Amino acid sequence: PFILSIAGGGSTYTPGIVKSLMVRLEDFPLAEIRLYDIDEARQRTLAPVVEKVIRDHSDTIKFIVTSDAETAFSGAHFIFAQMRVGQYKMREQDEKIPLRHGVVGQETCGPGGLAYGLRTILPMVELIDLVEQYADKKAWIVNYSNPAAIVAEGVRRLRPNARVLNICDMPVAAMRNIGAILGVDRHKLQVDYFGLNHFGWFTRILVDGEDRLPEVRRHVAQFGLLTEDASKTDPQHADPSWVKTWRNIKPIMDHFPDYLPNPYLQYYLMPNQIVEHQDPHLTRANEVMNGREKKLFAAAEEYQRTGILPDAFHVGVHGAFIVDVACSLAFDLRQRHLVIVENKGAIANLPYDAMVEVPAYITANGPEPVRMGAVPLFHQTLLMQQLASEQLLVEATIEGSYEKALQAFTLNRTVPTMQHAKAILDDMIEANRDYWPQL
Ligand code: G6P
Ligand code: MN
Repeated sequence: PFILSIAGGGSTYTPGIVKSLMVRLEDFPLAEIRLYDIDEARQRTLAPVVEKVIRDHSDTIKFIVTSDAETAFSGAHFIFAQMRVGQYKMREQDEKIPLRHGVVGQETCGPGGLAYGLRTILPMVELIDLVEQYADKKAWIVNYSNPAAIVAEGVRRLRPNARVLNICDMPVAAMRNIGAILGVDRHKLQVDYFGLNHFGWFTRILVDGEDRLPEVRRHVAQFGLLTEDASKTDPQHADPSWVKTWRNIKPIMDHFPDYLPNPYLQYYLMPNQIVEHQDPHLTRANEVMNGREKKLFAAAEEYQRTGILPDAFHVGVHGAFIVDVACSLAFDLRQRHLVIVENKGAIANLPYDAMVEVPAYITANGPEPVRMGAVPLFHQTLLMQQLASEQLLVEATIEGSYEKALQAFTLNRTVPTMQHAKAILDDMIEANRDYWPQL
């Protein structure tokens, strides 16, 4: 049985992930679960909820809650990483600063994602170093930390040999919705997909060897990437803002007649419309703080007081996916999953060393990307511009370069002019004083 550490143990996602682990104990046996967080108080508050989830399923799994890296990682076999540097207070800034300038305010797309990247790359590298110091030499870090594309590129640049697999639940969440639309379990879908994280396209959706993508597109043109009544989506994605996000891919579909776009492309392709429909004073960070966060903390408090745990967290594709990936790594299952990997020719006309999102077979030695071939000029150009923005941001972080940060902001498709790029960057430098390297 494995020792698993969750870095970012105080996340509101932790109970859902642990629940997903508990229902898979036969496939992924566990001796210990350790929660690790630098925010000790937050983690202590939520830990009893996690412990209850474990004890409902197992008396034998050892449970440790710590802010000490050695205690957290000694001998660990798997580390699930989900850090949020600056927490929701800074997510709110990532969203609201660009909006003040009339630009998309999103935690991973546009200036918000770039700012979050500048906060996260170096702490992620610190985490990797701690894991390498203490954990089992063959340990894998499965990394959900955002902004995933930029974090992946930062890790590739700074710790190229680290055993880190970067993942995102958006493609698999899309597959869950596609499955619901087709009336097929998502595990029965075999998809082709190419792009960068939060910037890609499904090109085939095979069910028993038949490509159902045209049928999915016809549905999406009418209802968005949701079932007609939206009720079959994961609770994580049932908030009104998420329903809007899934529906909003309708207007961009015509630009990609053969493919199904990742919903996140809406931020790059129709930024004005997104900004117009966004309240600049009440963003997703506020929605999460007032919703998911509040509800879980209230439940933790009630559980402490009454011994009864109210239903307060999401169990769904987010947790299920990371457990699937971990199983495939652990037992060399070579399952095919959409993950973020070094290109190595998978997308023939993108750089060999770009961090791309494509299907890969997940082996005990890591992901083996599947060849998606060359992509059309239009898509290739969009991808190259986004890649350049992300790579320049990583270089800005490593070199402490204001010039490169400004180039990264300027190249981002969500940013209309050079003046916008500079004004937003300068505001963000101010807001991120405690977090960014000196530019
Ligand atoms: C999806 C994305 C993640 C992102 C999350 C935000 O799951 O793949 O990258 O962090 O949405 O969700 P939230 O509910 O916090 O807005
Ligand atoms: Mn994601």
